[in-house]
Amino acid sequence: MTALGNDGIVTIFVNAAQTVTCAGPARARRGTEMQDADVRRGCGVAVQGDRIVGVDADDALRRRFPGAREIDCEGGLLAPGFVDSHTHAVFGRARYEEHELRATGVPYLEIARRGGGIHASVRDLRARTDDDLFALAVPRLRTLAAGGVTTVEIKSGYGLTVHDELRSLRVIARLAAIGGLHVVATCMGAHEVPMEYRDAPDGRRTWIDCLTGELYPAVAAEGLAAFADVFCEPGVFDVAETRHLLAAAAALGLRSKLHADELHDGGAAALAASIDAVSADHLAAISPAGVQALARSRTVATLLPATMLFLGTGRQAPARALIDAGAAVAVATDFNPGTSPLQSFPLVLTLAVSELRMSASEAWIAGTVNGAAALGLAGTTGQLAEGFRADLAVHAVDDFRALPYWFGERLCTLAWAGGRACHPSW
Ligand code: NIG
Ligand code: FE
Repeated sequence: MTALGNDGIVTIFVNAAQTVTCAGPARARRGTEMQDADVRRGCGVAVQGDRIVGVDADDALRRRFPGAREIDCEGGLLAPGFVDSHTHAVFGRARYEEHELRATGVPYLEIARRGGGIHASVRDLRARTDDDLFALAVPRLRTLAAGGVTTVEIKSGYGLTVHDELRSLRVIARLAAIGGLHVVATCMGAHEVPMEYRDAPDGRRTWIDCLTGELYPAVAAEGLAAFADVFCEPGVFDVAETRHLLAAAAALGLRSKLHADELHDGGAAALAASIDAVSADHLAAISPAGVQALARSRTVATLLPATMLFLGTGRQAPARALIDAGAAVAVATDFNPGTSPLQSFPLVLTLAVSELRMSASEAWIAGTVNGAAALGLAGTTGQLAEGFRADLAVHAVDDFRALPYWFGERLCTLAWAGGRACHPSW
């Protein structure tokens, strides 16, 4: 089908009960700045090509763009598309067995020690074809879009050989090329030390050398990723190894992200701040010193409340302490087969309010502007404002607080990414 809005004609979205624009500075919002999602009434949005060309009263837009095509929001909520800045959406099978194992008391890292967890997904991915991985991922992106997501970051990290990491990243490149969601790729070859290296003498060293000497240069040469990410966690990669890996990646132009202090505090948040990482993600076990370090840095603190909920840890990252200290907080799904098989961004907003104790405005900013900042995209993405990418969604509610409130409902009726429909069809 012809994608609406991509033919140069202006389209205006009218008749919204509320419009949550998240408009403001084109950068991460920190601390008290997150309190203002700029919610307006009677406000429409005009789109031309892949850009927003007007945000104003419906009638003002009609006067400014005579002959524009109109899309009726039917008294719903008009909002920026969500930026899901942390997913592992390219994987094979689900891992139902671990969900039950954890319920009986076996911890996540113990399952990995026994060769399950990430290793189970690695064995599975290596046995699959590229076409299979691509075909499995497409409907997942459509499901994310059905919740109003218009930008998605996808990490590799279930290949854990140079060959299989590159295959995963090429699948991500194919997903980017089909023109549905805006896809951002991250190389996460440092997701784990692969089983075949784990018990070998010098195995860790060999894998780390392989990442810095082979994988990162190949990824950079082929332009396959914007970021490198490391699982910096006691028992996985320590702070010194993470610093070394991310420095090597940065020298090749891959910007830094970290899975930081997810289950235990290992000083990863402070490392992220010290190397000016674009984001430090998880942070459920962050120390008070880590909170202060992030608050003083430019690094976005990306919180993944669905992961802690699904792991059944009974803990969450200290979102209030982070925001109150002046940090920039984003939220994301962490969509993956082990710790967060969640494809609903609106549910993340619910968890942001109910579990992380954020206000609805803070949750909206965290899922839009700050998600974009966590991908280095705050200059173009995450706001309904002139000149920004035409990434927007309509939800069948009349109040911005209603999306986190009516949890578990499917309320997104329409989404456009880059000026093209991505839900209900692309
Ligand atoms: O973000 N913590 C490491 N990585 C993922 C989980 C990956 C998996 O268990 O497959 C996470 O939680
Ligand atoms: Fe993750």
